[in-house]
Amino acid sequence: MIFEKSEISGITLKNRIIRSATHDGLANADGGVSDELIKKYRILAENEVGCIITGYAAVSKNGVSPYPRMLRIYDDSVIESYKKLTDAVHKCDTPVVIQLAHCGRQTSSKAIGCQKVAPSNVLHAFYPDRAKELNYSEIKGIIDDFVSAAKRAEKAGFDAVQLHAGHGYLLHDFLSPYGNRRKDAWGGTLENRCKIVVKIIEGIKEHTSLPVWIKLSAEDNRRHGMTLDDSVKIVKILEKAGLDAVEVSCGTVEDGMNTMRSDVMPMTAVFTYREPCASFPKPLWDAGLFAAKLVNPYIKQPTELENFNTYNSSVIKKNVSVPVIVVGGIHKLDDMELIIQNKKADCISMCRPFICEPDLVKKLKNGKQTEAKCIMCNYCGLVIEKEPTKCLYGQIKTK
Ligand SMILES: Cc1cc2nc3c(=O)[nH]c(=O)nc-3n(C[C@H](O)[C@H](O)[C@H](O)COP(=O)(O)O)c2cc1C
Ligand code: SF4
Repeated sequence: MIFEKSEISGITLKNRIIRSATHDGLANADGGVSDELIKKYRILAENEVGCIITGYAAVSKNGVSPYPRMLRIYDDSVIESYKKLTDAVHKCDTPVVIQLAHCGRQTSSKAIGCQKVAPSNVLHAFYPDRAKELNYSEIKGIIDDFVSAAKRAEKAGFDAVQLHAGHGYLLHDFLSPYGNRRKDAWGGTLENRCKIVVKIIEGIKEHTSLPVWIKLSAEDNRRHGMTLDDSVKIVKILEKAGLDAVEVSCGTVEDGMNTMRSDVMPMTAVFTYREPCASFPKPLWDAGLFAAKLVNPYIKQPTELENFNTYNSSVIKKNVSVPVIVVGGIHKLDDMELIIQNKKADCISMCRPFICEPDLVKKLKNGKQTEAKCIMCNYCGLVIEKEPTKCLYGQIKTK
């Protein structure tokens, strides 16, 4: 079943396995696509991945991530480079979807060169500089930025756009009562919290013929945050606005080990790649890492390391009519088959397993392997703070 042809929003996939959006850290200086990135996606496509979702691409300058070399699609000058990417992937009969994002509070004003923006001024644990609360005309501007980015994506030949409305980024912050404390027409009730996403979907539908997918954190583990019940209602509202597919994830960057789970915090990687630890002078760095390793076993990690969003995806699937994709700790071929057979989702998607093995789908299909080799250590989730994404397990060079 997992290797049978499927269709999502009119797009044919050669199987039911999708590369979930993964920041690759390989954009050019102008935010367009580098030859290295084209090569990376061509390898995934040649090895029979059913569909590729790009890493998150910023729709505006104030929505850019602090991670280096993020994709950006807020200027027409980059369209040509994105076209080269879609042409290369389409040569393998593989669809490619661009993920559109605005980082909201999950960036730093220093990184974007102006004060960051958010629905509400809620302090972020990792990016403590305060965000400016968006006013009505700025919200309209953000809606226009998403629609303009989708128009560019259509010109560049993408098969669909995926709105990044999970993991604590701007659209998630609007949807979640944790990030959205507004009392005006863009906050308060669930309908009001959904409004920005509804307007973006309607705008994209009006100005392009692209299908619109969304990635949601079905639960965000924040006090008074998004619940599964909210998510079901949100998808129902969004499908009325024209949504074509939903990918179910969880968590926010503030609890990043929830979104991409691991049994232990990768402390050596934290101290090597995350500021301010990475810049500590050697004696302080050694002492800090030593202390962190001592306390590490006592830091509670989210449980269920595998298939951790499939319950939520199954509940959402039962209640909505758009196709459902599920991501998160999916590693084993048997599990993939069961997810599809038991109608917990229509397709599965993976991120870390493809960082480790871009040829994973071919290996699973040919019977060479029955599960991914990725051990979910999360080193790759930290290297992106300084360098292009790579599987670093066992390879970290310490100071
Ligand atoms: C290095 C790295 C980069 C990521 N970049 C993105 C991204 O650009 N957009 C997104 O929605 N999720 C991103 N994620 C989250 C993954 O898409 C996925 O939701 C999460 O890793 C759980 O799936 P997995 O267990 O298959 O890795 C990233 C994860 C990692 C490890
Ligand atoms: S560093 Fe490699 S093994 Fe570790 S989670 Fe990332 S891809 Fe998997």
